Amino acid sequence: MAVPKTEKIWHNGKFIPWDEAKIHIMSHVVSYGSSLFEGIRCYKTPAGPAVFRLKEHAQRLLNSCKIYRMEPAFSLEQLMDAMRELVRVNGLEACYLRPIVLRGLGDMGVHPGKCPIEVYIACWEWGKYLGKDALENGVDVCVSSWNRFAPNTLPAMAKAAANYMNSQLVRMEAVVNGYHEGIALDVFGLVSEGSGENLFLVKDGTLYTPPLGSSILPGITRDSVLCLAKDLDLPVVEQQIAREALYIADEVFFCGTAAEITPIRSIDRVTIGAGRRGPITERLQVEFFGITEGEIPDRHGWLTPV
Ligand SMILES: Cc1ncc(COP(=O)(O)O)c(C=O)c1O
Repeated sequence: MAVPKTEKIWHNGKFIPWDEAKIHIMSHVVSYGSSLFEGIRCYKTPAGPAVFRLKEHAQRLLNSCKIYRMEPAFSLEQLMDAMRELVRVNGLEACYLRPIVLRGLGDMGVHPGKCPIEVYIACWEWGKYLGKDALENGVDVCVSSWNRFAPNTLPAMAKAAANYMNSQLVRMEAVVNGYHEGIALDVFGLVSEGSGENLFLVKDGTLYTPPLGSSILPGITRDSVLCLAKDLDLPVVEQQIAREALYIADEVFFCGTAAEITPIRSIDRVTIGAGRRGPITERLQVEFFGITEGEIPDRHGWLTPV
């Protein structure tokens, strides 16, 4: 999907034209993958555009920066304000926000030396990630032949561009074989996550999801689902999940900023439950979209008006 151009991009505290947001080919990030980023949705609500869980996303970005010793010159509040202002400046009602912290042009070599830390924020209009009817009818996915990276190799808790080399392998393999998406196992052969989504399964009315130790990104949508499940009195267990538990689940769904809450109707061509969105997935979707679209009161304070 091509990125629809907007007027402005935020760079180190200033708004610059979209076409001028360029980096040098010898920037550290190009050779060594030194970039940390976020993906955030701003929803259209009756009260105007509102960013979903802005503070949690900004905090996760700063956490990623801390892990990689890449401290940006901007505070949590400054980053949050910049994102809100960017949406206003571009006059968008709903969009996807992409803050990026990267190591720019400076010294050459793996050690970043004096490479400057650059902060960019872009936003653009973005529709449904896994296709239009995926939210209602579900997607067909496979278990990937690629594993997620092992603990203490690349930090899974950091949202680093380098992690997405692994995600690309998972996603490309899935697509080339006719699936929407792939599910990666961790190095122990246990369920981890999709290439860009966390995963839940439902069995006998209980929700199960892999813990942070299963090489997953600590997803903010995952956290929102845990919270909504509690609100709805649905029992949730965070535990390691065997691959075969996926096939015999009553329902399985992905969650993430891009995928929101997307039902999975088959895995490796094995039909999951009734082969369509299950009732618990639907209940969670109703709550999630009700809140994000401003139709249900924002009881957890998840929306920040721009
Ligand atoms: C690998 C991976 N896992 C999980 C997620 C879901 O995280 P979030 O809900 O914070 O978007 C994403 C999306 O950012 C991701 O890229």
